[in-house]
Amino acid sequence: MVKVNIPTTKLNNGIEMPVLGLGTWLGIDEKVWQHNHREADAIQSVKDSLRRLNLDYVDQVLMHWPMSISPDGIDEKIDYLETWKGLEKVLDMGLAKSIGVSNFNVEQLKRLLANCKVPPVVNQVEINLNLGQKELVDYCQSQKIVVVAYSPFGTMMPSRQPPDSPEPKLNNPLMLAIANKHGKTVTQITLRYLYQRNIVSIPKTVTKSRLLENASIFDFNLDENDVQTIAKFDVEYRTVVPVFWQNHQNYPFPEERQPYKEDIPLCLRIWKNGANADID
Ligand SMILES: NC(=O)c1ccc[n+]([C@@H]2O[C@H](COP(=O)([O-])OP(=O)(O)OC[C@H]3O[C@@H](n4cnc5c(N)ncnc54)[C@H](OP(=O)(O)O)[C@@H]3O)[C@@H](O)[C@H]2O)c1
Repeated sequence: MVKVNIPTTKLNNGIEMPVLGLGTWLGIDEKVWQHNHREADAIQSVKDSLRRLNLDYVDQVLMHWPMSISPDGIDEKIDYLETWKGLEKVLDMGLAKSIGVSNFNVEQLKRLLANCKVPPVVNQVEINLNLGQKELVDYCQSQKIVVVAYSPFGTMMPSRQPPDSPEPKLNNPLMLAIANKHGKTVTQITLRYLYQRNIVSIPKTVTKSRLLENASIFDFNLDENDVQTIAKFDVEYRTVVPVFWQNHQNYPFPEERQPYKEDIPLCLRIWKNGANADID
């Protein structure tokens, strides 16, 4: 059996967390979803997840979005501060060791920090070579909130390349040159770059060899030239754009490139209809 040691980072509550995780979208239980933003619902949703996972507690629970949306798609306008109170109770009850947020922007984090008893340990947001999020990362790190990058490969993979999406793709010559120099792959260079920015990544894969590949990034260093070359791909291009929610209160992203025209994708409609609520 191959064993890879993943370094850890210390959270603001003293708990150590691996600096690399496995993305699990649509694979296992999603955490506190935006249907459950009332304080009592947030607590119940964690209890329901634990029952489905057959666990007494989890290491970490996140508020998935700052918006609150009913199963019918209605903007419920529940303040995320109320949801956070529910998560603080989850912590008190011993149902999770740490609590954090996802998709919060700087203003939302500032308001949360000014009004919470327990600060979030992480903010999980989209970060990849096209979307560096420097201001958000700097703010989180100044507040000892660990930044976790979702969709770390952005539109690099052939399966996820809208027509206008920017470089680099897997075959980008500049990325291949850096990869060849270090005897690594383009995906490993990408994850290493994020790691050297002190960002935790959660690449998703269902392929065993890629799991090992993605985890094998702790035995080399990108030099300053590499870093400068890679940094030029940051063109503030967002891969995950839920335009169908952009008129909801507390939508965290700047106004988007296209007007609302997409229907909610099937995977989110399944969540919306609550069909996921009893998967056991
Ligand atoms: N908080 C949020 O709102 C939010 C939003 C989006 C995502 N997320 C989380 O972030 C996780 C990761 O993001 P993501 O799934 O959007 O995208 P991603 O991890 O950037 O990319 C996943 C894709 O890359 C492929 N891949 C992985 N490793 C590879 C490798 N070494 N070589 C070639 N291809 C490789 C995977 O293929 P195979 O699986 O076929 O190997 C899959 O098609 C999700 O699973 C989810 O847990 C959170």
